[in-house]
Parts: sequence; C-alpha cells; structure tokens
Amino acid sequence: MDINLNIHSFLHGGDYNPEQWLAYPEVLDKDLEYLVEANCNIVTLGVFSWASLEAFEGQYDFEWLVTIVDKLHDKGIYVMMATPSGARPKWLADKYQEVLRVDEKRQRQLFGARHNHCYTSSVYRKKVEEINQELAKRFANHPAIVGWHISNEFGGECHCPLCQDAFRDWVKKRYDSIEEVNEKWYTTFWSHNYQSFDQIESPSSIGENGLHGLNLDWKRFVTDQTIDFMKAEIQVLKSYNSDIPVTTNFMYYFNELNYFKFKEHLDFISWDTYPTWHKNSDVEIAMDNSLWHDMMRSIKQKPFILMESSPSYTNWQGISKPKKPGMHMLSSMQAIAHGSDAVMYFQWRQSRGASEKFHGSVVQHDGSNKTRVFQEVKQLGDDLNGIKDIQGSLVKSDIGIFYDWENKWALEDAQGPRNKGMHYKETVQKSYKGFRRLGLNVDFVDMESDYSNYKILVAPMLYMYRNNIQQKISQFIAQGGIVIMTYWSGIVDENDLCFLGKVPYKLNDVFGIERKEVIGFYDDEVNSISTGYTYKNLCEVIEPIGAKTLATYESDYYSGSPAVTVNEYGDGKAYYIGADLEQSFYDDLYLNIIKALNIELPIDGSDNFPKGILTSTRTDGRDNYLFIQNFSQETHAVKVDESSHTLIYGEGFQNIKPYGTNIYKY
Ligand code: GAL
Repeated sequence: MDINLNIHSFLHGGDYNPEQWLAYPEVLDKDLEYLVEANCNIVTLGVFSWASLEAFEGQYDFEWLVTIVDKLHDKGIYVMMATPSGARPKWLADKYQEVLRVDEKRQRQLFGARHNHCYTSSVYRKKVEEINQELAKRFANHPAIVGWHISNEFGGECHCPLCQDAFRDWVKKRYDSIEEVNEKWYTTFWSHNYQSFDQIESPSSIGENGLHGLNLDWKRFVTDQTIDFMKAEIQVLKSYNSDIPVTTNFMYYFNELNYFKFKEHLDFISWDTYPTWHKNSDVEIAMDNSLWHDMMRSIKQKPFILMESSPSYTNWQGISKPKKPGMHMLSSMQAIAHGSDAVMYFQWRQSRGASEKFHGSVVQHDGSNKTRVFQEVKQLGDDLNGIKDIQGSLVKSDIGIFYDWENKWALEDAQGPRNKGMHYKETVQKSYKGFRRLGLNVDFVDMESDYSNYKILVAPMLYMYRNNIQQKISQFIAQGGIVIMTYWSGIVDENDLCFLGKVPYKLNDVFGIERKEVIGFYDDEVNSISTGYTYKNLCEVIEPIGAKTLATYESDYYSGSPAVTVNEYGDGKAYYIGADLEQSFYDDLYLNIIKALNIELPIDGSDNFPKGILTSTRTDGRDNYLFIQNFSQETHAVKVDESSHTLIYGEGFQNIKPYGTNIYKY
C-alpha cells in the first residue's frame, strides 16, 4: 500500500469507543469476538477519549487502552490511533479558560460540544502535546498501530485575543508595511485605512466585514493556523516513530479549510462520508458522493482512506433512513472504485446515551450479530478480502477540474453580480458529471497543482488568479492541451483586487474573446442559446477577438452575440462558456471533445449515467480494474469486451443487477 500501512488488504473496521463500555467487560469481550466475525481488520481508537485517559490533570490512566490494543493485536486487528484533541476534558476548560473558543462577535464559548478549542492557545497546545506524548510513548512502536488519526474533523475559527495577535503576525509576514496592507485590502474605501498593524482585527459581523482582502486573508490564516496546530500534534508523534503515517479526517464539501494546503503535512488523506441515500434519487446522490471521493483522492494523487461512513443511518440529518439492503455494499464499493483503500464506519458499537445514541452502528443496542446491518458488514469484509489485489492501485485521469478553495471563498464573498448564489459548486459539478457519466475518471486540481498529466483542464468560474495561473493555462493550451473556462473568470488578483484592463485578464488572446458585460438573472429567469440549450443565473456579453463562435444567445438585447466560443491557440484549444448553461450542454460538449481527442471510454455508451450506472477504473501499472456500479433499481445491460476482460467480482458479465457492482480485470 502506498499509504505505507503495510497491510496488504483493504482496511475494514471503524471508530471503536471502548471507553464508553469500561463498566461492561462482557461487552468488550463480545466486541473482540464480533470484530473478527465481521471480517474487520482495523479499529480507530481514542478519538474522544481524553477524559478517560486523563481524568484529572496529569493523572494518566492508559491501562485500559493498552489492554484493549493488546487484545486487538492478539486477534489480528490493527489500530488507527487518534489523538484526543477534538474534545477536551472539563477540568481543562474550567482551569484554563483560554482554551475555549471565542466567536466572531467576540463572545467566549462555554464548555460543551467538541471541535471548539482555540488553535492558538499555548496552554491548549501544551496540554495536547502532553497527552500525545503519553500516547506516543505507549503506542508509537506497538505492532498493532498502523496510523495516527490526528484530532477529528478540524474546522471552525477562534477570534480570541491570542488568535488576533497570531493573525497580526501572519499579516506582518505577508505584507512589508501597513501601507501595503491598506493598498491590498483597499482600505481607502469608506476611510477604513489602518495606521498600524496593531489595529488589525479579524472580520466580524458586528465590525469590519466589507474588506474582501481582509476576509480572504483571515480564511487563509484559519487554514494556516489549523495546519500549524496539526503539525505540532504530528511532530510529537513522529518524534517517537517517524514511520507511522499520519492523517486527519476531512469532511464533505467542507468550505472553511483549504484541504489542498494539508497535503504536504499528511501521509495519506482520509474522509468521512454520510450521503443521504434514498432521499431523492440515489443515482444523483451517487454522482455527488463520487465527486468528493475523487476530490479526496486528487489531493495527494494517491489512494485515500474512507475513515467514517454509516453502516446504516445517521441521526443528525433531517430524516434518518437506514440504507436499503444492498446499498451498504454498493456505497462502500463506490469508495473503493474511486481510490479508497478502506471502508470504515462510525461507529462500531452504538452508544447508550448522549447525542449520537440513535446513530447507526455495526452492533446495535440489541447487541446482536444477527442483524441485517451486521450481516451486510460481514459480507462486505469477506468481499473486500476477495478483491484485495486491487488495494494500493491508482485512479488515473486525463481530466483535471479546478476546485480552488481560495477562489471559491473570494467569489462567494465578492458582493455581485449575484448575491443570491453564484453556484460555484454546481458549476463544478456540471463539468464533473459531464465527464463522469461517460465513465471517465476525473481529478480535481487547484491553482498550485501540476497539470502535466492532463489532456483536458476545466476552469469553472476562475474568478481569481493566483500562483501565476494565467501563464500556466496559456502554456498548457499552447502545448496542445484543451481548456474549458466559464463565465466569471479572470477578474481579480489574489487579494481580490480587480484587474484593470481587458478580462478575462491576460487570457484574452488565448481565448480570443473579451468580456463586455455581466448579467445576473433572477432565480426564475431562463434564456436559451442558438443550439437549443437553456441557461440561468448568469451570462456574459462577450466579443470575439479571434475566437470562433459555437453558439449565440437567442433573446434579449444581446441576442445574436456569442455565448460559446473556441479559439485555437498554439497546439491546443481554448473553449469559453459565457453562461450558466444546463447540464445537457456540458454532456454534449464533453462527448464531442472526448471523441475528437480519441479518448477511449471504459465502456461503450454515452448515456450510462441516466440509467444509474457509474464507472471508474483503477490501475497498478500491470493490471487494470474496471468498476461498473448500478445505483438504480433495474438490471441494465453493459457492453464489456469479453475477450480482454475477466469478471472478478459481481454477477453476469454483460449485465448488472440493481445495486450491483461488477469488477473486471483487464
Ligand atoms: C462525524 C464525526 C463522528 C460522528 C459522525 C456521526 O462527522 O467525526 O465523530 O459524530 O460524524 O455521523
């Protein structure tokens, strides 16, 4: 495994919280028996165990944990050991108030909940360091430990005086003088100029919130400060054994932290997924979930770990539906198809009390191993064993779609041209879906990525430029690449200051167009273009300066002007999409582009997705694996070449049953 866990099979298991069951030794014994029976080979321990490990300051009790880890090891079960910083003991908060977070209105929170500590507090850092040291002393060289799980789902921000000071230091490092800050944040507007660095404060809804450069820098700082906190945790653990890989569990579409920035500090990426299966269309939910799997894989371009998923239902969504029979297998295999080397759960045994007592788990309150959930989990473990050769293989893609956190933050904060939603995420999703429905693997990139392995790059609303992206895009196209860029691109620099001159800035020649006007639509307004597709939300009046017009607008005062263009530049092509066009436009455009490039589709048929079929491939350089999954309720025929492919998992070579997964080796 590239992740270097030295386990040559898929990981199967999940969050195990024995600290909740220390008064029930028979339960702990049953857990060991059941874990083996359920074909689990890993558990995550210690995520929220701090108070059980250090009930009073400096009084450590690790005996119970050591006993459990030893017993797990005896049974051949590995451990992903978590640091407990995601939730602190009460004594710590009571004694050291500074560890409690202060919100953007400058109000300090009371003790409670979790994931709400100050990342800057030296007291919190010290206390975390101490407990991590105790953990590392005992477990860094324990043969059961295969990875460190740092904290839990980092997120949120703190506006306390310590964080204000840290932010000021961060600003001082980024800018040479207060004059430069004033210039970059455009503080002359409304006379908000700073006279010194000491006056700088984080944004607040009851204070400064209209300086977009400040807002953006604060978000950057929050990511940097979170990483800094995480690095301090990692450093202690690595000092005891640098070979144990580290991760932290990421979340679905989490907006507050730029996950790409974490990549160099983590040995592997992991994430937690809780799709609302059976809410509306499983097919659409599957497409959405596959997107974030691909995002997680793209961050390090390596296999990732599905750290948490529910084996049945959650209890925090509006409605909690159990997964229907077969969905657990299907959704877990989807993670594998997209590059996960694990299927892990929250949680192993259902809690008796508190806020997650009705969350789904492998072992429920009845303590039985006969439940449908338990049996499905067990079957999945068995099936994962059967396909273990696939573990460690990669998902390769010719296509990279930009998803840049900083760009998203800036364009959503920009105030105009559509404060009722710019739909960045949906615009990204349309391109993703356009390629994925054809069965093609898709990667995500940000403005710091390496693009050399791609044939096609899609830049949805590349509003902001940073890291010299305009030059990299020009070069990519000149060297034969295809770039599809949409409306609302090339507008501001990395400080959210508008470019002066023609837009899309410094890409006019490359795309052969100039944007003249931007028009926001009310939610119910719809227009169309000459090729029949409709558009909503936003469109641009563009003037070709060399580009060929592929479609024009149909109505309104700009009727007849170009809506979609293409320009030959160097050896490549630059497509520009001037309006928020409907999905079928993207589907058709991408099919044509793929055909023109002779990119081979893994299975025949351009309309697999509407039927509910999703496809992904993994490769280890020698063998390739084709995953075909059916998220619909009907059996569908699939055309796979029998002479070159062997069915290694699933039933029926040329058809796929409802909720079925077929895996072919080729
Ligand atoms: C995750 C979290 C777990 C648990 C789970 C419930 O976000 O990391 O601790 O709360 O959600 O779905």
